[in-house]
Amino acid sequence: MISKETIDKVFEFARVEEVISDFIALKKTGANFKGLSPFTNEKTPSFIVSPSKQIWKDFSSGKGGNVIAFLMEHEQFNYPESIRYLANKYNIEIIETNDKYENSEERNKRESLFIINSFAQEYFQNVVLEEVDVKNYLKERGLSDSTIVNFNIGFSPDKKNSFYTNASEKGFSIDYLIETGLVISNENNYIDRFRGRIMFPIKSISGRVIGFGGRIIDSNKKIAKYINSPESKIYNKSKTLYGIYESKQFIVKNDVCFLVEGYMDVVQLHEHGIKNVLATSGTSLTKDQIILIKRLTSNIIILFDGDQAGLSASMRSIDMILEEGLNVKICQFPDGEDPDSFVKKYKHDKMIEYIDEESKDLIDFIISVNNEFEKDEDKKVDLIKSILKSISLIPDLLKQEVYIKKLSSVLSIEESSLFRSFSNIKVGKKLQKSKSRQYSKNIVKIESPKKEDKSGYIYQLERQIISILLKYGVEEIVFEDIFLNKNEKGDIVESRKEIRSKVYEKIYLDLQQDEIEFTHGPFKEIYNKLINSFHNQNLISIDSFINDLEPNSSKIVSDILINDEKYQLHDWEKKNIYVKKIGSELSQLVNETILNMRRYLIDKKIHELQDNSNNETNKVLEEVMSYYRLKKLLSAKLNRVV
Ligand code: UTP
Ligand code: MN
Repeated sequence: MISKETIDKVFEFARVEEVISDFIALKKTGANFKGLSPFTNEKTPSFIVSPSKQIWKDFSSGKGGNVIAFLMEHEQFNYPESIRYLANKYNIEIIETNDKYENSEERNKRESLFIINSFAQEYFQNVVLEEVDVKNYLKERGLSDSTIVNFNIGFSPDKKNSFYTNASEKGFSIDYLIETGLVISNENNYIDRFRGRIMFPIKSISGRVIGFGGRIIDSNKKIAKYINSPESKIYNKSKTLYGIYESKQFIVKNDVCFLVEGYMDVVQLHEHGIKNVLATSGTSLTKDQIILIKRLTSNIIILFDGDQAGLSASMRSIDMILEEGLNVKICQFPDGEDPDSFVKKYKHDKMIEYIDEESKDLIDFIISVNNEFEKDEDKKVDLIKSILKSISLIPDLLKQEVYIKKLSSVLSIEESSLFRSFSNIKVGKKLQKSKSRQYSKNIVKIESPKKEDKSGYIYQLERQIISILLKYGVEEIVFEDIFLNKNEKGDIVESRKEIRSKVYEKIYLDLQQDEIEFTHGPFKEIYNKLINSFHNQNLISIDSFINDLEPNSSKIVSDILINDEKYQLHDWEKKNIYVKKIGSELSQLVNETILNMRRYLIDKKIHELQDNSNNETNKVLEEVMSYYRLKKLLSAKLNRVV
């Protein structure tokens, strides 16, 4: 782990305006700097940097934060990567502390492998500058010098061990040279793995070289066209996408990622100004790779050549992408063309036009490749089932519905019958998990709580509570609470009471009363620390509070502070940037949030009871019903406050 002193020093020296101006042209306007948002394609600058506050805000995308947040958003670095980047920029020595997960030997080894790869990249690049044959080959493939330099493309000489000789002269250990895969040991002989190949360095998202792909230059040779580095401590094929470092900012900006098969596809598209592109490098897409893309955009267009292999690979990829909650389209190229050859032949505009016109969504694509269904009714049924199955993988219910409606109109099948067979598919899936379906269907109909990801309901509620505490925790206001009691006749009657208390006390007591625990780790940490500081009256400043948190939590806090309120540009320099909510509005917000949270937890409880009960005993039923009543009461309360 990076030591606290190093981190403090980085914060002391780093200037947000200096760091950002390495990436964006900034202009001074008054006390601030202004520039064009790197996250959208805006024409008038709304990206603002405040040197006095050491923060930035991008009004066109809503993003903002401190210098670390910028590097995390723009470079997609994680926290330690950002600190390292800044330490490097400001010549600060990085002191590491012992860490229980990775001993220093392990870390040194990884570092050594990175250093060897970076040496190799330079070595191979220098060779390109010298060899006429190689220069001609790259020219013939249509690559300009700037693209070659941008991707650090090189050449490994067609000699037994010229790289090995050079590297060992530099003093690199043979064990590590072998571990990177650059050198192969063969009966006490050391041979270069990539002899006579064009070298494509494979980089991590932060730009370090983790491996290489090598293409033969002489196509007459009867050996594999491409070979790649073996997996190592720093290279994990299934977690990497070729082009991620060079393309990431363009994927964010265009909010779509083109996914291709090969090294040359990525490089050639960049050559023609299409830079939001990544390659799977000939292997099938993995979940880890999709998650990597998810950091940048939620839209993927798969560009693939017209052959059968590409087709079935695409089908598998589509389902995996849908399951991760991303949007996917598929664009097939004419037989014999891949994105590389197509863009080289037809150039930028035609390529974009082709992608625009030919990209098909799930339904259009599956129908287009199964065109024989028109004549064969059974085939049509199979086709519908397979499309419905893919739709059932989409986590977003609204999106599912939109697709089913589209399917209905495209194939002229009644919507209602599609929905019926769709719910059969979904029930079939759930039945494997729980046998109590029928029971729950007949007795109480309650929608199931959504998956607890970041867009999930409970995540939003917990975030809301943190946000309220951060902004209004110490405000004292009057809460009107509604109590529901039974009178002598057993009817439910309403009584109201006004309570004056601090916002944090109200939240703390209400949550404690229900024994509500936060489900998201960082929120839990922030909540506990905040409540403690409020109790002990030692919340000195938000700044020092943020600096005391885990990096992940501190990012969450600054995100909340910066993003939540849609305050106007001119409020920027005001001392208190949050427009204070008036008392009644605030008490309503607090009440509503807590009640929603309780209602959600009750839903969950009901569901657990239903799912876990194998036998439909009266006891479970009773319990469900009493929770159900409680839920109704809460809903009634909510309607009062809303
Ligand atoms: P292709 O055979 O489609 O090659 O393989 P390409 O990208 O069009 O290459 P050029 O245009 O002939 O130079 C697609 C990808 O599959 C992997 C590589 O990552 C390649 O970019 N591949 C291919 C291998 O790993 N090994 C091979 O022998 C062939
Ligand atoms: Mn090709």
